[in-house]
Amino acid sequence: MRAIDNNTPQQSTRQHRHLRFSILRYDPNDSASVPCMQEYQIEEAEGMTLFIALNEIREHQDPTLQFDFVCRAGICGSCAMMINGRPHLACRTLTRDLPDEVTLAPLPFFELIGDLSVNTGKWMRGMNERLQTWLHVQEREVDLHRIEERMDPDIADQIYELDRCIECGCCVAACGTAQMRKDFVGAVGMGKIARFRLDPRDIRTDDDYYELIGDDTGVFGCMSLLACHDVCPKTLPLQSQIAFLRRKMATLGLSG
Ligand code: SF4
Ligand code: F3S
Ligand code: FES
Repeated sequence: MRAIDNNTPQQSTRQHRHLRFSILRYDPNDSASVPCMQEYQIEEAEGMTLFIALNEIREHQDPTLQFDFVCRAGICGSCAMMINGRPHLACRTLTRDLPDEVTLAPLPFFELIGDLSVNTGKWMRGMNERLQTWLHVQEREVDLHRIEERMDPDIADQIYELDRCIECGCCVAACGTAQMRKDFVGAVGMGKIARFRLDPRDIRTDDDYYELIGDDTGVFGCMSLLACHDVCPKTLPLQSQIAFLRRKMATLGLSG
């Protein structure tokens, strides 16, 4: 077997690439600020992520550059941005998977805080309150001998799949419907309804869910563009869940 040569010309070239970043700069809180693209250059390092690259720019070239990071591990959802026109998590993006020239912009749809930083949390909170994305259970006396209830493992797996949503906003940023109507709940909202609908502990009925998403702000506003499914960094099964919900809600609408 041929030994792997770690110093192949291709890899050593890659390690010394000069990356050119074109970043949308704008501070909506500064009346003198005008949106513009600002250029930065850095030398690529092995294993570099966009998180590392942006920090290098901020530390060594421009301390005013705004962007968000918390976990650096694809868990908190705060670092989503438009990377060469496609929404994705900056902390999960390796620069080696990008071309030499990279264009960065904030996620559309959400309130802009400044540069690459947007307030996804405010919108997510409003959506969660509107759709009541918490478990609605029957009030009853607590039986200390039976605190945990059994759940079908298949159902538990499906709920777990949908619970992996990190509220990053990529699905909403990629969605054409969301760009046209601000009150659309997006794939993230429909995914949450799908999650509670699956949960046997939740006492809400399909009629209750119809009240929440059975109109153009919910399943009937979705045009099956499926960009949400393509860009979700957690690969949630959005396509199948939205299609199922829409069929279910359409049946209810016809019978109601
Ligand atoms: Fe992000 Fe996917 Fe959740 Fe949308 S469904 S907010 S893309 S993790
Ligand atoms: Fe938008 Fe996804 Fe529907 S991209 S239109 S929510 S299928
Ligand atoms: Fe938390 Fe990227 S920093 S998901």
